Amino acid sequence: MMSPKMLERALSARRAAQFSGEGDEDDGDDESKTRKHISPLIRATNYFTRTGYLYPCLILSISLLLVYSLIIHSRNLVCVSDPISRFRFFGYGELESDFGSLGVPWCRSKHGKTVEWTSKDLLRGLEEFVPIYETRPIKNNMYGMGFDHSFGLWFIAQWLKPDLMIESGAFKGHSTWVLRQAMPDKPIVSLSPRHPEKYLKKGPAYVDGNCTYFAGKNFVDFGSLDWQSVIKKHGIEDLNRVLVFFDDHQNELKRLKQALKAGFRHLVFEDNYDTGTGDHYSFRQICDQYYIRGGGHSCFKDSDEARIRSRRKEFWEKAMDVEDLCGPGETWWGVRGQMRDDFNHSNKAITYAEHIKNSRFVESVLDVYWELPPVAGPSLTHQTRYDPARASSPIVEDGRFGLFQRLGLNRLEASVFNGYTQMVYLQVSEQKS
Ligand SMILES: C[S@@+](CC[C@H](N)C(=O)[O-])C[C@H]1O[C@@H](n2cnc3c(N)ncnc32)[C@H](O)[C@@H]1O
Repeated sequence: MMSPKMLERALSARRAAQFSGEGDEDDGDDESKTRKHISPLIRATNYFTRTGYLYPCLILSISLLLVYSLIIHSRNLVCVSDPISRFRFFGYGELESDFGSLGVPWCRSKHGKTVEWTSKDLLRGLEEFVPIYETRPIKNNMYGMGFDHSFGLWFIAQWLKPDLMIESGAFKGHSTWVLRQAMPDKPIVSLSPRHPEKYLKKGPAYVDGNCTYFAGKNFVDFGSLDWQSVIKKHGIEDLNRVLVFFDDHQNELKRLKQALKAGFRHLVFEDNYDTGTGDHYSFRQICDQYYIRGGGHSCFKDSDEARIRSRRKEFWEKAMDVEDLCGPGETWWGVRGQMRDDFNHSNKAITYAEHIKNSRFVESVLDVYWELPPVAGPSLTHQTRYDPARASSPIVEDGRFGLFQRLGLNRLEASVFNGYTQMVYLQVSEQKS
């Protein structure tokens, strides 16, 4: 039987959708207006159609309903303490709340401030961005950003309207192109060991005319560049007007400290990997803590988390069971207790105490932490990689095909939706000493 604590953690520790209920007036004739109005039956059908288990699960559900009604009508059978727990015990909660059902850890900001934009703004942004994305020069950006993060970066950049954009990790130049779409006239500084022009010899790549490249033989790592002189050269007086984008697979704690040292305040990290995954220590990992709602893990093989995780692993390529998640000595934080760096070329075992210290440090400098939600639910995008149980509710929720279609998202290839890793926007301030 599940303890109340475990129930709380495994099933109901979801964060509420960040902007619940907003953006619905724009839905026009969409038959399924909001998640709230979608019946549990439709949600369950969506889920099982997606996973290919519709009929076996219908039979199972009917049997469970019968068993359930037998239990609640029997005064002699007292297995679980209250009706809500009973529901969850039989998994109904899980069907209803697929997104975030295994917890969505969140970095706490100092004053609980959040972003200014709403889900309505994100929907309007999607409407504008889809046709832009369709004109991208690099159609196949394997190993680079897919649609979700391209949208996220574009949205944040066009919202903040920086005077200077900096990127670390350019690859063939897709993210440079995205930044350019957001701010057509503003300078970019791009740092990448291989110059994007090198890729032009083999196929599509993007080289920007108003970008200073520290790339190829001129490559300098973000942590070693003389930012004062770069900033001065670009005539920037207020560092609040600079947006820094990291897609270089470096330890994000290291990058945060370097960015703080240079005085930058607006940071976007592309690969904000979930706990147990990825090739570098990320904010999502850093903030996955027991004291955060939705955070912390159980390595106990008979736990509810273990049971749910192993079941979900069958459906989602990147889902992990507790054996994948936990290293020796039940070290679940980071990646099996390790702080990874530089595409996993370096990794270091850290204690839980160090991990907590890292999260306390992050919290001490954080004004805003905002994870981009997935753009649409998997019954719409047909993505098969990230596990929705570890993500917040999507901008376009499952069942809202009318909206998905109206936004033009149905015109995009399914593969562009497979790269979601919780891109995050941070607003930071100097640590008080
Ligand atoms: C995932 S790719 C970037 C994808 C790109 N942002 C896009 O949208 O397609 C990571 C890039 O980081 C580069 N990289 C590796 N080490 C780096 C470093 N220390 N600083 C900056 N870039 C680095 C790699 O060469 C590679 O081009």
